Amino acid sequence: MNKLHIVSNRLPFSIVTQQDQISLKPSVGGLATGMKSVYKDFEGRWIGWPGVATEDFSASDFEKIDTMLQKEGCETVPLSSYEVETFYEGFCNRTIWPLFHYFNQYVDYSPEFWESYVKVNQKFADKTIEVIDDGDYVWVHDYQLMLVPGMIKKKRPDIIIGFFLHIPFPSYEVFRFLPWRNEILEGLLGADLVGFHTYDYERHFLSSVRRLFGYEISFNRIHIEERIVLADAFPMGIDYDKFHNAALQTISKTLREKSQLHQELEKVFFVSPERKLILSIDRLDYSKGIPHRLRAFEKFLEKYPEYRTKATLVMLAVPSRNSVPQYQQLKREVEELVGRINGLYGSVNYSPVWYFYRSLPFENLVELYSMSDVALLTPVRDGMNLVAKEYVASRINQTGVMIISEMTGVVKEMAEAIVINPNNEDEVAEAIKQALEMPVDEQRARMAVIQNRLKRYDVFKWAEQFVASLKRIAQIQRDFISK
Ligand code: ADP
Ligand code: F6P
Repeated sequence: MNKLHIVSNRLPFSIVTQQDQISLKPSVGGLATGMKSVYKDFEGRWIGWPGVATEDFSASDFEKIDTMLQKEGCETVPLSSYEVETFYEGFCNRTIWPLFHYFNQYVDYSPEFWESYVKVNQKFADKTIEVIDDGDYVWVHDYQLMLVPGMIKKKRPDIIIGFFLHIPFPSYEVFRFLPWRNEILEGLLGADLVGFHTYDYERHFLSSVRRLFGYEISFNRIHIEERIVLADAFPMGIDYDKFHNAALQTISKTLREKSQLHQELEKVFFVSPERKLILSIDRLDYSKGIPHRLRAFEKFLEKYPEYRTKATLVMLAVPSRNSVPQYQQLKREVEELVGRINGLYGSVNYSPVWYFYRSLPFENLVELYSMSDVALLTPVRDGMNLVAKEYVASRINQTGVMIISEMTGVVKEMAEAIVINPNNEDEVAEAIKQALEMPVDEQRARMAVIQNRLKRYDVFKWAEQFVASLKRIAQIQRDFISK
């Protein structure tokens, strides 16, 4: 059987060192959590960066890391601290990430970042070429590696390559700002299949290709001399059963023994039994609209004083990209807002916002999903937002209300949720009230429809359909060449 190799910047495991002991922990972020459920089925390798700079470890420790990851099916691409700074923190997260999320004011077009991006992408391409055998497939992921498909195709035109973008592809009017827009498109067009979460992102991509290169495009096929490149939408799913079953277990386990988190949360209910929990979970990222959410919650408490002891926002933010200045600034802003709201409306018995700045183990995550009455997710831009899907999958008795931003990819699959514009804080405040007061029958009716949809199109279906398309395009490519 032909193998399929995954190539992504972030591997499914990150390195932790505690008292000189090196171990692996699961990585956070949609790409890693989603792909982790499916990659073992492909019988290939997962090629990526272990998440640490080479200089931070001795050569022997680095070898240890490499061996540990090899055992998990991974091949490492080591990066120096200069590369981490200029490639990962630089071009990936100070150029592409803000531009593709429409944060034009944050974009840094430093040529040094670009040069590093080219070199590191070449490293990933070379490592992949080393690993592949004839007839294997390659699936490259995300914005950190947009040149890799072109680089592999140049040396191995026979290899069929898929690319999936986990973040939005912006409108041409935004994409055109990028000084290296042609190079990025050329890199992506090295793939045979380019996938996006939504049809809108696909349309933006095709429009950029048409305007910048003038290639003939029929429906979603791009004709480039002797090749065809297919663009398509594949909304990424989650491992639905894993969340659903874990939530079932959480409920039965809670009857026997309560986790510390559970006991802590129970104190919230102790003061007022009818107290409601509103949950938000994200990486601490400016694209997630966290300050918008806090301001809207403050407005809600201001406007509806009867909820001042009855509604608590549990906000879980996982540290992310701490060395990038905008992330440091965001952390300060969030802490200030939390402090202000708790100072204004808190009392000895009541903290309006419970803010956790850390990553939680899977069991606790599911526990939080299961215990919360409302999920409040307010990204100002988000390629998909898998957290929204995880919340839905964890609602065993089908109660619970989802408030979701219209600026996410996931909203296309959640018309039954309460859909808001995160920039409209009054609207979000009203949505919170509506969610807290929604009759149980209505909650169940809405949740049931979303659950059925997400269960049918889970991450396995998503991967299966992408790979099936990749195989189809391999056939089309062969037919096209033999004509
Ligand atoms: P992104 O890819 O931008 O981070 P997603 O919502 O698509 O956003 O995916 C985030 C993933 O990271 C989810 O699978 C979620 O469970 C996980 N995650 C987010 N925050 C935490 C946290 N504090 N602790 C553990 N896992 C988290
Ligand atoms: O899903 C989008 C994404 O950017 C992934 O590419 C990435 O792995 C994840 O979010 C988390 O970001 P990072 O890898 O920078 O920690």
